Amino acid sequence: MANWRQALHIEPPQGWLNDPNGLCFFHGLYHVFFQYCPTQPDGTAPKCWGHCQSPDLLHWTFTGASLFPDTPQDQNGAYSGCAVACGDLLRLYYTGNVKHPGPYDYIRTGRESNTLMVETPDGIQMGAKQLLLTNADYPADCSLHVRDPKVWREEDRWYMLLGARSLQDAGRLLLYRSQDGLVWQLARVWEPTPAFGYMWECPDGFVVEGRCWLSACPQGLPHGETENQNVYQSGYFAVDGDWETGTLSGFTEWDKGFDFYAPQTLRAPDGRLLLIGWMGMPDADYRNPTAALGWQHCLTLPREIVSGPEGLRQRPLRELDAPADGAPQSVEDGSTVTLPLPFRLRMTADRDFALTLAGGLHLERDTAAQRLVLRFSDEAVGGGRTIRRAVCGAGPLSLDLVVDRASLEVFCNDGATVFSTRFYPEDSSIPVSLRGADAAVQPLRPMAFTVQ
Ligand code: FRU
Repeated sequence: MANWRQALHIEPPQGWLNDPNGLCFFHGLYHVFFQYCPTQPDGTAPKCWGHCQSPDLLHWTFTGASLFPDTPQDQNGAYSGCAVACGDLLRLYYTGNVKHPGPYDYIRTGRESNTLMVETPDGIQMGAKQLLLTNADYPADCSLHVRDPKVWREEDRWYMLLGARSLQDAGRLLLYRSQDGLVWQLARVWEPTPAFGYMWECPDGFVVEGRCWLSACPQGLPHGETENQNVYQSGYFAVDGDWETGTLSGFTEWDKGFDFYAPQTLRAPDGRLLLIGWMGMPDADYRNPTAALGWQHCLTLPREIVSGPEGLRQRPLRELDAPADGAPQSVEDGSTVTLPLPFRLRMTADRDFALTLAGGLHLERDTAAQRLVLRFSDEAVGGGRTIRRAVCGAGPLSLDLVVDRASLEVFCNDGATVFSTRFYPEDSSIPVSLRGADAAVQPLRPMAFTVQ
């Protein structure tokens, strides 16, 4: 019997989830908020923020919806945002989405994108909402699409990034500076020339080994055979210099799979930079059959971000390894083994290989074309997903797969290339077939997810 309830990934008990919001470690707990429609698994109701907390990233408590679109400034959605500790309180910064009824295009007319802040002692009880910025405060050549504040503090100042669309339909980032996190001045605008897409959503800024990086979700990039294969993209730029004067270089997609968008980072108390994305894709033409069962979408595993020779690397959260659940197994070249979900599979491939999960999900290497391919051959297993490709060179490939009950995350070459996808196996144990390599399999212990 199919069991598509994830064992290792945050998902709502009922309803719709999209972007992770307000990721932080505060007063001894990790907090993960997310865009949430509790009653509508198709995500059509105004968004609120759902909330989960955990002491260790493995034992989660879902406390329900905590930030609601209940004022005139956010009446059509408490859109994405972030959390920053300030004294004894956590400040949540977010976008209040307002759509006025009428014959509007909602790009240049009919929309409000308000930057709001609310304080909370625990992620559950909310103080009074404060309106910090309205469309009149953003640069005059911005369209009404300005959203998704990401705020952080440095020694003597606060910074806020906002994603935006210009009146000329160019994607851009706004950087604001503040002394107190309440009164903000525009510090600069990043907008590549020529335009890199028409809109950038869900920005983030972080430092890895002394270097600044910016993450954003550009919409409207041309699609290629191995690049930008999804409807919208999510990736990062290196910042050459500091936040206020540095220039952007490169754009590397975080994930080459079907389901990854709107990631956000948080700093763990031990200094690790963790990244969590939405394991979904807006406006995609593929489906998730859990919607018919009352819920849709999950977040990715937290990933540890480190710098590598060619950019950033993403590694599965190390907490996943301990404690192991059950004895390790192997899948030998040419064999098929049935394995209960969830599990982790590791292998090294120095030539062509083909791995098939659940009869319809294939991960293959084409050494001559120097490609790694993720492909579905079964409509039911993939929900309409087709094929995604990444360039992978000709050398040996190391692969580390985390396979949950309805998702696969592939970390290739120590996380230099990652693929994430949802998949929907018929059973809670799946056949795994391998040709061209041997693999080691470790059963994984489901995380604890308590609904309060
Ligand atoms: C990205 C996004 C954000 C917005 C939110 C609304 O998926 O469109 O830009 O704040 O979702 O749910």
